[in-house]
Amino acid sequence: MLAIIVHGGMEDTVIPPHLAERRNSGAKRACELGYQTLVRGGSALDAVEAAVRCMEDDPIFDAGTGSYYNLCGEIEMDASIMTSAGEGAGVACIQRVQNPISVARKVMETTPHVLIVGEGAELFARLHGFPEYDPATEMARRLLEEQVAKLPEELREVLKRYQEIRKKHKSYSTVGAVAVDGRGLIAAATSTGGNPQKLPGRVGDTPILGAGTFAASAAGASATGHGEGIIKLGVTRTVVEAVNKGREVDTACQDIVTAGKGAKIPLGVIALDRRGRPSAQHNGAFMPAFYQSEELSEAVYIKG
Ligand code: GLY
Repeated sequence: MLAIIVHGGMEDTVIPPHLAERRNSGAKRACELGYQTLVRGGSALDAVEAAVRCMEDDPIFDAGTGSYYNLCGEIEMDASIMTSAGEGAGVACIQRVQNPISVARKVMETTPHVLIVGEGAELFARLHGFPEYDPATEMARRLLEEQVAKLPEELREVLKRYQEIRKKHKSYSTVGAVAVDGRGLIAAATSTGGNPQKLPGRVGDTPILGAGTFAASAAGASATGHGEGIIKLGVTRTVVEAVNKGREVDTACQDIVTAGKGAKIPLGVIALDRRGRPSAQHNGAFMPAFYQSEELSEAVYIKG
């Protein structure tokens, strides 16, 4: 069974229809690209990398090109990738690369490590031939300028403001994908620019295996939403372990989303089980999620 599911981040509030449409079409395009990768004989790992790269290159998403700036005006990105063969790795707070997901894959394939951060991650990327790249967009720059213009002078005030922004922040346009290939390998991948105006060095759930990304022989999953909460809940590992214990993939995703709601954690999750059955669930207002398999001629929207 060849199958893939992707998400283009969850929104906690309703967004204008034209933005929802752009997010939907970007996620659909990524899903179909990932599916074509499977059809051409690529592995699930190749498929999720291709799908996530497609969304990293689409400035409508907060991942790769289009990532938010942090509080200090830098773009620090997180990504991770994992397969049901037990390999997985991430990069966190990486700057100046076009596709963090591909750097994460390189960490997985060429080092014994599971997480490389900051300057070390960038150095690693350069050593492996990833060229310097500026992921900033005009929209991210405008957002930063507007936000910086409003910053108070004293550090205490800055931090207070930061907390306020975090409370009001409702958009989590992280991207992710999960695929299963003809050999039964499951892979999951997730990439993000994190929150706007995050503190420098802040790491969310995305590069953490078991939080933002997880894959095992029963299923794979990718999360979006409030990173700190997703880490505390261990969202993707919880989903995969539940499927492993016999829970239907859709029920497993519903359970964690409900748990998130109870704990006031906005989150969304996509998952595929080993038979290619998908689920996309969230407790917000919007999450573009698309699925394609051998039974479908094009990617279809999955309503969470
Ligand atoms: N879920 C993405 C983040 O919190 O960074």
